Amino acid sequence: MNDQVRNWYFTVVYLVSPVQFHASRFLFHPNIFIFLLLDFDLPGGENSVPMKPITPINKFKDGESIQGFFLCAEKHPRFTRAGDLYLDLVLRDRTGQISAKIWDKVESLSDKFSAGDPVAVAGDVESFQDRLQLIVKRINRATVQSYGRYGYDPALIVPAAEQDPKYMWKEIKTLIRKIRNPHLRSLVALIYRRNKKQLLTHPASVKMHHNYRSGFLEHVLSMARIGLEIAPLYQVNQDLLLAGVFLHDIGKLREITPGYEFSYTDEGNFIGHIVISRDMVVEGIRELKTFPAELGIKLEHMILAHQGQYEWQSPRKPACKEALLLHLIDNLDAKMNLMDRALKEDQEEGNWTDRRNYFRIPLFKGNAEDRT
Ligand SMILES: [Fe+2]
Ligand SMILES: [Fe+2]
Repeated sequence: MNDQVRNWYFTVVYLVSPVQFHASRFLFHPNIFIFLLLDFDLPGGENSVPMKPITPINKFKDGESIQGFFLCAEKHPRFTRAGDLYLDLVLRDRTGQISAKIWDKVESLSDKFSAGDPVAVAGDVESFQDRLQLIVKRINRATVQSYGRYGYDPALIVPAAEQDPKYMWKEIKTLIRKIRNPHLRSLVALIYRRNKKQLLTHPASVKMHHNYRSGFLEHVLSMARIGLEIAPLYQVNQDLLLAGVFLHDIGKLREITPGYEFSYTDEGNFIGHIVISRDMVVEGIRELKTFPAELGIKLEHMILAHQGQYEWQSPRKPACKEALLLHLIDNLDAKMNLMDRALKEDQEEGNWTDRRNYFRIPLFKGNAEDRT
C-alpha cells in the first residue's frame, strides 16, 4: 500500500488540538496499517474515536458525514435573516472546491482558523439549490507539524498539476537544450535556473487556465511540445518560438502571489505579466552582454504580442510568423485546459455539463473511451 493510499485512511484524531494530543497514546504501524487509539481525550467528553477515511471533495455525496484536509479559500462572517451570525466558507482541495457553512459554535470555531489557512474539517454534506455544500461541525488550522502524522500534506489541499513538478522540470530542461541558438538557450536557462524554486509550484493564472499549483510548468511544457510538433509545418524559426514559449509568461512570477492562495500582486495589477515578462527578458539580455540586439527586439516583440488582440490587453499584435504561432499555441493550450477543467469539475449527471463554465454552454462529457 503506497503512502498516498494510506494517507486517505488516517483517523479522525487530527481534529483534536495538538496541545491536547499525547503522541505516546497513539500507536501506528505503517506497514501493517493498524491504528490503536488508547485512552483518547476529545474536547466535549468524547473518549472513543471512530476510524474513518479522509474524503476528498470530488467524492462528497449528499447526506454523508465526512472529514478531511482542505484549504480555506474564503471566510466571510454573515448574518441570517433572524440576525444570527454564521460563517460562509469556500473550501478547496486538489480535487475540487465546495461552499461550506458554519451555523453552530460560530465564534469559538471562527477563532481557530483564517482565510488562506489549510484546515482539518469534519462535517455533513448536503444538497442546496442543486449543488453540494458542507455543513462544518469541527474545524482546526492544519500544519505539517501538528497534522502531518495524520496524513496532512499541502499537495492534497490545493489543486495541483497531475504531473510531478520535478518530472516536468526535467522535461523542460531537456527541451531548453533543443534551442540551438546559444544566445536564446543561455537566456532561457539563466532565467529558469534563477527562478527554479518558484517555477516548481507557481500557477499560470489566478482564475483562468492552469490556475493551480505547478500550473505554470504544465502550461509551458505543453506549449513547448505543441510548438516542436507544428513549427516544422510552417517554416518558422523554432528557436525563437521555443524561447517565446518559455519566456512569454515569465512575468507571472511577479504578477501572481506565491503560496496556497493565488492573487494579484501590486506590480501585477499596475503593470501586468506581459510587460513584466518583457522587463525580465531585457534584464537577462543585459546581463548576458553579448546577446544580438536584433534577436533581442524580436523576442521582446514575441512577448509583447503573445496575447494577440488589443482587447485582450495585448500591447502589440503579432507581426511575424513566430509571434503569431506563439499566440495561437498559447490560446490553444489555455482553452483546452479550461475545457478539461470544466468537464472534470462538473457535478451534473448524464452526458452534458451545466452552463456555469468558461464557455457558458453545456459541454459534452460523453464516454471516456471515445477520447482514447
Ligand atoms: Fe500570457
Ligand atoms: Fe501563456
